[in-house]
Amino acid sequence: MANFINKYSISSAAMITPNTIEQIKNRLDIIDVVGEFVKLKKRGSNYLGNCPFHNEKTPSFTVSPAKELYKCFGCGKSGNTITFVMEHEKVSYVDALRWLATRYNIEIEETQVSDQQKQQMQVADSLYVINNFAGKFFEDQLFNSEEGINIALSYLKERGFREEIIKKFQIGYNPQQRDALTKALLSNQFNRELLPRTGLVVVRNETDLQDNYRGRIIFPIHNNSGKIIGFGARVIGKAEKAPKYINTPENELYVKSKILYGSFFARMAIDKQDECLLVEGYTDVVSLHQAGIENVVASGGTSLTVDQLRLVKKYTNNLTIIYDGDSAGVKAALRGLDMALEEGLNVRLVLIPDNEDPDSYVNKVGKEAFQKFIKENKKDFIIFQLEVMLKDAGNDLNQKNILVNHVAETISKINKAEDFIKQQEYIKQCSALLKIDEGGLITLVNKLKRDKIAKDEKKQSTPNNHFNDYQEPPPPADEEINYLASQDEKHERNVLRVLLDYGLNEYKDSQTTIAEYIFKELQDFPFESPELESLLASYKIQYEAGLNPTTKTFLYHEDPKTRELVISITLFPYELSSNWDKLYEGKKITTIDNSIVDVTMSVNYYKLKKLKKMFDQNQADMEKASIDDQMLLIRIHKELKDIEREITKNLGTVIIK
Ligand code: GTP
Ligand code: MN
Repeated sequence: MANFINKYSISSAAMITPNTIEQIKNRLDIIDVVGEFVKLKKRGSNYLGNCPFHNEKTPSFTVSPAKELYKCFGCGKSGNTITFVMEHEKVSYVDALRWLATRYNIEIEETQVSDQQKQQMQVADSLYVINNFAGKFFEDQLFNSEEGINIALSYLKERGFREEIIKKFQIGYNPQQRDALTKALLSNQFNRELLPRTGLVVVRNETDLQDNYRGRIIFPIHNNSGKIIGFGARVIGKAEKAPKYINTPENELYVKSKILYGSFFARMAIDKQDECLLVEGYTDVVSLHQAGIENVVASGGTSLTVDQLRLVKKYTNNLTIIYDGDSAGVKAALRGLDMALEEGLNVRLVLIPDNEDPDSYVNKVGKEAFQKFIKENKKDFIIFQLEVMLKDAGNDLNQKNILVNHVAETISKINKAEDFIKQQEYIKQCSALLKIDEGGLITLVNKLKRDKIAKDEKKQSTPNNHFNDYQEPPPPADEEINYLASQDEKHERNVLRVLLDYGLNEYKDSQTTIAEYIFKELQDFPFESPELESLLASYKIQYEAGLNPTTKTFLYHEDPKTRELVISITLFPYELSSNWDKLYEGKKITTIDNSIVDVTMSVNYYKLKKLKKMFDQNQADMEKASIDDQMLLIRIHKELKDIEREITKNLGTVIIK
């Protein structure tokens, strides 16, 4: 940090452009930034840690990701992400911004403010002011003009919107008269040249200004601090000649790809419920809010962009998409979703039945039934997509082949290390649905992953290199084998990790400890790596001698090799995702405690992996065996199947094969 400031403070007189500041603000994540200096633990929807601004032993420093602020209940210090960096690092506002820009890899635009930039800032500022004025004008028209009350307000009420919710979302009305708003804007001295940029006003016959949203209901669109950045304007009643909605054109404020309608009103609820509902339309958002379901935003029916997904991810990892069954939007939404996986989001989908949309459906059945429906019908996105496509493919083998590749591609996008087990689970479920061999799918997924890594590396190492026409040869066959073997070791390491971390705890509510449970489970499934086997043995010796070994014990081991090994295992990022239990919602495993689920999953996946190998071995033996031996091998096969079934039952899923 010190270096950093020195390096940059010379130029700190120069101005950082609003565009850059906006980018920084959009990107920053208070938990990430504060977490760099303070050890934070999740407590409900907040995070808690020891205050960095005063000395304390019990943590009272609270950070809220939804509100993007921190507050210490001990010393009273509070602020936002930027003030945190300022306070903590004792730097100026500008230097805090620079620090954040570096951290998030945002290029700082900071030439001396050119006239053009000055103008751009002024444009943005002016657009806010104009939008704010127009928003008030529309509200006033809706509630206080005869036309507004008779035509627009009555329409809204007919649709079931109550005044309170109309006011909350600042819904308004633009009169039919050709220039009602234009006149009001001009008489308030707003810059004539600028008005068309807002989309509120259009130029006719070169100089003549008139209202763009005449006779329409107006839904203002807010940014995350509640300022109006644009509008959606709906015709009243059925759209016959004109488009149903007209939206603000892209301008300095309104960048469609970064907007989720309703996010300003939804963010607290999203954070609190750790889930974001995504619908298509403005009216869906408003109706759900009215019903008391507030963790909801709208995409506008187009496919999701990375920026929109990041917006969601600031508050939660759980995205539930609610669309009407026959909507074209479903396909559009599905298109963007591989990105969601790369961002590590858990995406679920629900289709609303019977030609209803979320708006009409919640009005019909009410809050409780709506929530129940969502809860019971939401489907994991990957599984959902697969089922839809399987139906399409029918018995066409060619189609099915394409499908297998597609599924592998999708699964390979789950690449965050902590999602390893989640990926295993998908492979299992998808191969069952596709009625194909799990091992085959694993191989395919791994191949795609490696292809991608190779491609990325190549991209990085040879930018614009015209001389480099050399094509990488395909990986040799035994590399494949090595890779799979190392996957094996991952499972072994994972089991060791849970043993070291939780071994001394009780297993479920029974009499045994987790260590004893693991020892027992491993009896028929020994480790293959000698290194890991010896660590396991040494743990066992200490455990049985009553020495209560833990990760720490081994971190201070006299042998540096053992220390290193334990560090690599502990840092091994297979930590059970906190969302794991949700994947299992309604299934056999109910969460008693995350560590128990973590242990059970880790052990059972390990065993499945070993079983797979035994099957393969058995198969290979079978080919060489005499008739008598074959009978024996078939019996072994059956027994293995039984064990597999038992394990899978423990995992809470069903084998279809
Ligand atoms: P209601 O029909 O009043 O319930 O509105 P809705 O919000 O449910 O509309 P719908 O489900 O038909 O469309 C979903 C979203 O797509 C809307 O909220 C708009 O953002 C967008 N949209 C719909 N129709 C149009 C259109 O004609 N033009 C544009 N640009 N966007 C539209
Ligand atoms: Mn609708």
